[in-house]
Amino acid sequence: MSMRTQALGLGYYLPERILTNQELEKMVDTSDQWIVERTGIRERHIVGPGEKNSDLSVEAARRALQDAKLDPLQLDLIIVATASPDMPFPSTACILQALLGAKNAAAFDLAAGCTGFVYAMTVAEKFLLSPDYNYILVVGCDVVSSVIDYTDRNTCILFGDGAGAMVFGKSEGKCGILSTKIGADGTGGQLLYMPAGGSALPATHETVEKRLHYLRMNGNEIFKFATKIVAEVSQELLEKAGLTYDDIDLFVPHQANLRIILSAMRRMKLPPEKVAINLDHCGNISAGSIPVALAQYLEKYSLKSGANILMVAFGTGLTYGGAVLRWGRD
Ligand code: UT7
Repeated sequence: MSMRTQALGLGYYLPERILTNQELEKMVDTSDQWIVERTGIRERHIVGPGEKNSDLSVEAARRALQDAKLDPLQLDLIIVATASPDMPFPSTACILQALLGAKNAAAFDLAAGCTGFVYAMTVAEKFLLSPDYNYILVVGCDVVSSVIDYTDRNTCILFGDGAGAMVFGKSEGKCGILSTKIGADGTGGQLLYMPAGGSALPATHETVEKRLHYLRMNGNEIFKFATKIVAEVSQELLEKAGLTYDDIDLFVPHQANLRIILSAMRRMKLPPEKVAINLDHCGNISAGSIPVALAQYLEKYSLKSGANILMVAFGTGLTYGGAVLRWGRD
């Protein structure tokens, strides 16, 4: 029997503060009706003053470890997928390692934007092929509100903050990761980016005045890319896993836009009860999107052991990827 990477525990955390479409109507030239019709989003959680990535990450991580019945000292590696770390360095994964007291774990951040969680899952799967690694904590967390220009109606309505975490281990059973796929098209880097704050444009008074520390996005182009890539990646993941669309028990898409999700559901002929959707109250949480959507689905509905979960994401880079995970521990 071959060894599989199994999901041992899941947890999430959302900041308490909620930003509604009605509040955004007072901030930019938009309407609740436009936002709901064009995106499906009604409200999103955003951090309060002083609240940062590691505050959300540590809560999600503690819940995932509790769910997995593991002690932080058992962790061999911590990966935090994020585009909005506490600070450029040290990595948020190292900050989290200290907060958890997980002193036996190596720690690094992974930058793949909204695809970050499935990228990190894929990395964890590869590390777990090695006898040196037995337990890996993967956190997807973004405080997108920290890089949002709340005078830009094209972007400020879309995003929210939050963290999701999963602990992975090894098993010889049937449940676990059946297939993964990650990829990138770096030529699309300017479609979703933050111009300043790195070595290309270090922070100066001028970069701040020009609002270059906020994310910039070409929504239309990303929309087209997303619709196409979600179809391609889903197909490839299922083929690799030896499954068909009929075998999917739950689809957990990146929560960017309801219209992108509906188009994928139509193509795969998936009924609503087989799709995890939380963007109406969370918006796009970037790297936190998929694990939080999965965790919230499982709070409401049960998923039998052996259920096939298809996860697919896309984001800055441009990056894309996904995984098929057979749910359960055996
Ligand atoms: O994780 C990856 C992150 N990014 C994404 O996933 C983004 C994917 N893209 C999208 O979700 C959509 O492209 C958006 C929701 C961003 C935009 O929807 P759209 O249907 O592509 O609208 P549009 O950009 O074509 O804009 C249509 C109109 C424009 O007005 P004009 O030029 O036709 O007069 C926009 O200025 O809607 C206007 N508009 C708004 N109006 C009211 C754009 N944002 C808003 C707004 N409220 N918030």
